[in-house]
Amino acid sequence: MCGIIGYVGEHQAVPVILDGLRRLEYRGYDSAGMAVMASDRIQILRAAGKLANLEELAFDQPLRGSVGVGHTRWATHGAPTEANAHPQVDASGHVAVVHNGILENYSQLRQEFRESGVALSSDTDTELIAQLLGRESGTLEERVLEVFPRLVGQFAVVAVTRDEPDTVVAFRQGPPLVVGLGDDENIVASDVVALLHRTKRVIYLENGDIAVVHRDSVRITDLNGQVDRMVETLDWDPGRMDKSGYRHYMLKEIHEQPDAIRNTVRAYLSSDRTTVNLDGLGFDPERLAEVKRVHLVACGTSWHACLVGKFLLEHLTALPTEVDYGSEYRYREPLVGEDVLVVGVTQSGETADTLAAMELAKEQGALLGTICNVRGSSSWRLAEVSMLTQAGPEIGVASTKAFTTQLVALMLLALALRRSRGLADDLDRELIHQLQRLPLAVEQALEGEEQIYDHATELLSEATDSLYLGRGCLYPIALEGALKLKEISYLHAEGYPAGEMKHGPIALLTDGFPVVAVAPATPTREKLIGNLMEVRARGATVIAVAEKHAQDVSQVADLILPIPEVHHLLQPIVAVVPLQLLAYRVAVELGLDVDQPRNLAKSVTVE
Ligand code: G6P
Repeated sequence: MCGIIGYVGEHQAVPVILDGLRRLEYRGYDSAGMAVMASDRIQILRAAGKLANLEELAFDQPLRGSVGVGHTRWATHGAPTEANAHPQVDASGHVAVVHNGILENYSQLRQEFRESGVALSSDTDTELIAQLLGRESGTLEERVLEVFPRLVGQFAVVAVTRDEPDTVVAFRQGPPLVVGLGDDENIVASDVVALLHRTKRVIYLENGDIAVVHRDSVRITDLNGQVDRMVETLDWDPGRMDKSGYRHYMLKEIHEQPDAIRNTVRAYLSSDRTTVNLDGLGFDPERLAEVKRVHLVACGTSWHACLVGKFLLEHLTALPTEVDYGSEYRYREPLVGEDVLVVGVTQSGETADTLAAMELAKEQGALLGTICNVRGSSSWRLAEVSMLTQAGPEIGVASTKAFTTQLVALMLLALALRRSRGLADDLDRELIHQLQRLPLAVEQALEGEEQIYDHATELLSEATDSLYLGRGCLYPIALEGALKLKEISYLHAEGYPAGEMKHGPIALLTDGFPVVAVAPATPTREKLIGNLMEVRARGATVIAVAEKHAQDVSQVADLILPIPEVHHLLQPIVAVVPLQLLAYRVAVELGLDVDQPRNLAKSVTVE
C-alpha cells in the first residue's frame, strides 16, 4: 500500500515520477503528490483523488528539476485529503518525505511535537518523520541515522532536503524498497514495476538499510556502517506490463492464464516432463524427510489458494495441513517446530501479515518456504526455499492469474513431496499429464458463450446479494468467486460450503435469489446437486459452473457457465475462470473501476 518513488538523474524528474506513479498506482490511489528540487527550495504538488488529478496539476504548474520524490497513497492515518497527501514537509520547509507504512509510536511522537509547540499540518504519521528529520542537523544521511531508531513500526521512506538538492535518501524497515541503477540516473521505488522500463539492474534494500542516492552513485549503510548489497539483473519484460489492447488489466490477466499456467508447470517438470523436479529450489532432502506437518499461511485470494492446497496436500501426501490467515497465525501461538513445513503463499511477496507469520515460523525453527510471484521480494528473501509462480506482473488489484498459478504450484509441491516420500504411482503420471493439458482446458473455459454470460451478468448485477456454493476442493473456489464479485462490483456475495447452507444461509433464499454453484464433475457432485435441489425448492436461481452437457447439473441449474472436464484435483484451476469472467463483466456492467476498486490495494504492506 502506497507507492513511493525517488529520482536523481540527467532528465527532468516530473515525467519520470509521474510515469513511475502510474505504474505504482495499484498500491493505492486515494491521493498523490510529488516534490521536485529547485536550487534553493522544494517545490511540492499534491492532489486528493486519483493520480490523474496530480497529472492535471503538474500540467498547469510545471515543476523543473532533475531530483524528486513521488507518492501514491492508500490512507492509513488521516482522510485522503490534499493536506494528508505526501510529500509531507517539516515546519521549516527543509525536508520532504514520502512514506509507505505505519508508525506505531504515532501518538507518542505527536504528543511530543505538540508539547514542544510545533504546529502539525496534517493527520499523518508521515509528517512526524519529516518533522523529526527537520529537527536534526547535519547531512540528510546523518539526520536519518539519528531519526531511524526513534521510529517504531513499518516504514519505507524516501526523503529530500533543500540543503542537498542533488541527493535522495531512502530507508526501510518493513515495506519494500528497490534501487534501480540506471544510465546517469538512479531511481528508488516500492516495486520494480516503476523502474523496469528504465533499468533492469537493481538492488533490493534490506530492513535497516539506508541508501544515499546520487545521479552517479548509490551507497548503502545501516546504523552500524556501510553494507554490501548484491546487484541483481531482472529478467522481466517491461512489455508485459501494458494492457495489450485489453480494456482492463484484469481482463488481460484473466486471458494470460493459459500461458502463466504453462510456464509454471514447465518450470518445475523434469526435462522429459514425466516427473516434478523441485531440485533447483534447494530443498534439503534430509530436512524434508523430517517434515510431519504443513502450515500454509496467506491473505486474501492467496489464502483461498491455500485452502485448495490443504486439500491437495492431505489427499496426495497424507501430511496434516493447516491453513491460516497471516494476521491470525502471527498472534495465535501456533504449534510450529522443526518438523513443520510452513509455506507463505503470496503473489506480491510483500504482504505484511503473511511476512510476519513467516518470520514467526522461522523463529520457531520451521522449514520455511514461499510460493510467490515476485523474485527478490521480501518473502522470497525470507524463505529458505522459494518457488516462483510464473504469472508475470499482475497489475489488476483483483488477483486472477496469480491465483491459478498458485494452485498449480501447490499441486506441484504436493506431487514433489509425494515423490520424496516414495508414494508416487499412476496417479502422479496422470496428474502430470493433465497439468500439461491444463492451459488448453483454461482456454476452453475462457470461451464461454456471450449470451449465457450476458444473462448471468444481468442476474448478478440486478441483485444486491448472492450465494456461491461449492464442496470439497471447490468450496474455496466458491469463496474466491464471491470475493472476486465483492472486490470489484461492491455487491455482497457469500461463499459457503454447499452442505452447510442448510444451517443458515438457506434463510436468505427467496424467489430469484442468485446462487452460483461450482459444480464440475467431482466425487461430491451428487451431494452438491442435492443441495441445489434445496435451493431450487425455495425459488432461487442457479447459475452453475459445469461441463456444458452435464445432465444432472442441467436439471437443477437455470444457466451453465461451461468448462471442460479435467481431473477433479485440477478442477479448481479451471472452475475459477468463469467466476473471474463473471465478476469482471458485472463490474463493467455497473460502470465500476475494475482495476482499481475502491478502498483496496494490491500490495498490503501494513498490518
Ligand atoms: C490484497 C489484494 C488481494 C491479495 C491479497 C494478498 O488484499 O487486493 O488481491 O490476494 O492482498 O496479497 P498477496 O500479494 O500476499 O498474495
